[in-house]
Amino acid sequence: MTKPALLFVCLGNICRSPLAEGAMRAAAERAGLDWHIDSCGTAAYHVRSPPDPRSVETAATYGIDISGLRGRQLVVEDFTRFTHIFGMDHQNLRNITAVRPNGATALVSLLMDVVPGREGAAIADPYYDGEDQFEETWEDVSMAAEALVEQLR
Ligand code: 4NP
Repeated sequence: MTKPALLFVCLGNICRSPLAEGAMRAAAERAGLDWHIDSCGTAAYHVRSPPDPRSVETAATYGIDISGLRGRQLVVEDFTRFTHIFGMDHQNLRNITAVRPNGATALVSLLMDVVPGREGAAIADPYYDGEDQFEETWEDVSMAAEALVEQLR
């Protein structure tokens, strides 16, 4: 089987998808898996920006440093470089599908579809919310990361 190459996608690449990338990197490392893991946004607002300080702080609470990540926008090459592209919410999925090129090989789905019992659930955008919402985001992306280890290892 091809080595999994997983891309986590949200709108800005500063709140949810950096947390998903951090949780997935940590889960893969714990499981001894050398997977290709990255994140990006469908929008270009935060290209080259570090993650939102609330995301950095939330990950740090769990011993994970995501402060070195930098924002980038989804590009057509991602559809062949990655085996799986995961959108955090339904709007992300629509935006991903809108730029999906002919010949794309990556499987595109909603991230929470990998968590049994949470299929079809969106990871809500925490940008305009408080710390609690970032904690909830962390719980969701961590569950998804563990599920991906189980399903793709
Ligand atoms: P993210 O959150 O998509 O989880 O990174 C957002 C970050 C920034 C904006 C919206 C959502 N924004 O409008 O700038």
